[in-house]
Parts: sequence; structure tokens; C-alpha cells
Amino acid sequence: MSRRIVVTSPLPGGALELVRARHDVDLLGGEAAPTAHELHSAMRDADALLCMLTDRVPRDSIAAARRLRVIGNCAVGYDNIDVAAATEHGVQVVNTPNVLTDATADLAWALLLAAARRIAEADRFVRAGRFHGWRLDLLLGRPLRGRTLGIAGMGRIGSAIAERARGFGLSVLYTQRHRLDAHAEERLGARYVDKAELLAQSDFLALGLPGGPATRHWLDHDAIAALRPGAVVVNTGRGSTLDEAALADALERGHIAAAGLDVFEREPDVEPRLLALDNVVLAPHIGSATDETRSAMARAVAEDILRVLAGEAPHNPVNSPARSA
Ligand code: DGY
Repeated sequence: MSRRIVVTSPLPGGALELVRARHDVDLLGGEAAPTAHELHSAMRDADALLCMLTDRVPRDSIAAARRLRVIGNCAVGYDNIDVAAATEHGVQVVNTPNVLTDATADLAWALLLAAARRIAEADRFVRAGRFHGWRLDLLLGRPLRGRTLGIAGMGRIGSAIAERARGFGLSVLYTQRHRLDAHAEERLGARYVDKAELLAQSDFLALGLPGGPATRHWLDHDAIAALRPGAVVVNTGRGSTLDEAALADALERGHIAAAGLDVFEREPDVEPRLLALDNVVLAPHIGSATDETRSAMARAVAEDILRVLAGEAPHNPVNSPARSA
């Protein structure tokens, strides 16, 4: 039986065709993302929603969507969706883990290296016609070998960041709520520490925490003050986990040497003081932005929506609602 699927963005990788072959698709927006009102109205008589991480899916929209069976988020993070409300209303939520792990870990390293070795600043330097010849003291950065990388959030992406550290000769510390098993720690060459030790020992700090109230401003003014002077901070998790104003203070004072950010507290807005600083590298939330990865994400979420609508178990469930399709 054909159902109505609301999709909030054109999809790569043949994913749109996949759902269109089986169901009626209502493709919202186009160039611009749908407004909250447009999304709320479209959801009212939808059986499924395939949305982006930029679409807020609040409790009242879920409650008003009486036919809704499944919400597929084309992202691994799902702090844009009221998952508790979905669970209460019997709505399955699915996401896209695994397929974006390598792309996002690669970007974390790109930012770490760019921040440590001042790549964006060096690029601006050359373009501005300021390169007048090699100099012993030109644009000196920070070395990696023998230093310590701290990882906050050792999920799939944090683990992939740790795997890549070996080649750079870094020791790895990590913290999160649950310690990994001994086998995983050994494989990753990572030692579990508490937050205070992570901050005190890390020369490089990679944030890979999920968003939400529990992690809001995990790296706040006090946590930044507890960081090793001269540390480099990278965030590819969620912008809400880092207090951007406190980070700007520390970068201005030189307490933190440099930072690389792919995510922001109030996306797409960026703390204006960060924009004025040379020692921060900024990217527009492109952690998973490779052709292959974005196509795989779109297909994964489309396939899971089709599974739920067909009464099958999804491969990537976020919640366990009492009633699903
Ligand atoms: C995600 O999937 O949550 C990422 O932030 C997208 O790049």
C-alpha cells in the first residue's frame, strides 16, 4: 500500500527514486529548507518524514502527525528531533551511523592539522601577496609527535579519530560516560581518564560529543581554563557542546593556541569574534561531506524508512517505540 513520505531536501545516490518507486513523495523546499510551519503542516498527514539535521522536529509536530510511523534523520546526530515525544507517540526514529564515520574522522584530522600548522592563515598569507621568501621563523606551528590527543566522546567517530593518531605519534586519552572494554582500548591504544585529567593532559582535544542538554557547554569557561596552555581544540560533534564565547576569549588571550570548528552553537551563525581571529579554522558543518558518504547516508535512511513502512525492523533504530508500522 502506497504511503505518503515527506522529504525535506533533494537526495543524492538514487535515494529519492528508491522511495518514489514505492510511495508518494512530497518533496518540500528545494533551494531553501522548509520553515517550521511548512514542516509542521506537511507532517500532519504524512506516514513518514525523511529530514535533515537542520529540520527541527518538535513534540507538537509529532503529536499532531497522527499517521506518522517513522522519522528518518539523514545524519548520525538526532538532537534536532524530540525523540522522547516520538517514542511516546509510537514513532520510530532512524539515523545514519557507520556510513559517515571515516569522512567525519578525516575532517577532524584535517581541522586538527590545519589548526596546528596554521594552514588557513598560511593560505591567506600567500593570497595577500605577503610571501616574500622562505624564512626560518615564518608561520611556526605546533608539532604532533610525542604529544597527547584527548578525545571527548569515544563513539564510532571518536574511535576512528583515535585510530588515525598512531601514524602521527600521538598518545591517546579519552573520556565519556562508559569506559570501552579492554580489547577496544588496546586496539585503539587509548587510555580512559576522567574529564579533569583529559583537560589537564591533552595537547590536542577533539570533541565528538552528541548534542542535547546533557552535553551543553561541556567545554565551558572553566573547562577551557583547565586545559593545558597552548592546547589545540577541534569540534566535529555538535556546536552546543562548546561555549563559543569562552573559546573566543581563550583564543584571544592565547591560552588556547588554535581551534578547528566544523559545528557551531547557533548554526549557521558563528560567534563574530571567532571570525576575526587568525588562529581558528572554520568549516560549514562538512564532516560527512563527500559524494560517497552523502549518497550512502541518503540511501541508508531511505531504506530504513521503507523497512519500517513495510513492517520490518530498521537497521539503524534510535528509539524503541511500543508501536511501529
Ligand atoms: C551528523 O550526521 O550528525 C553530522 O553532523 C553530519 O555531518
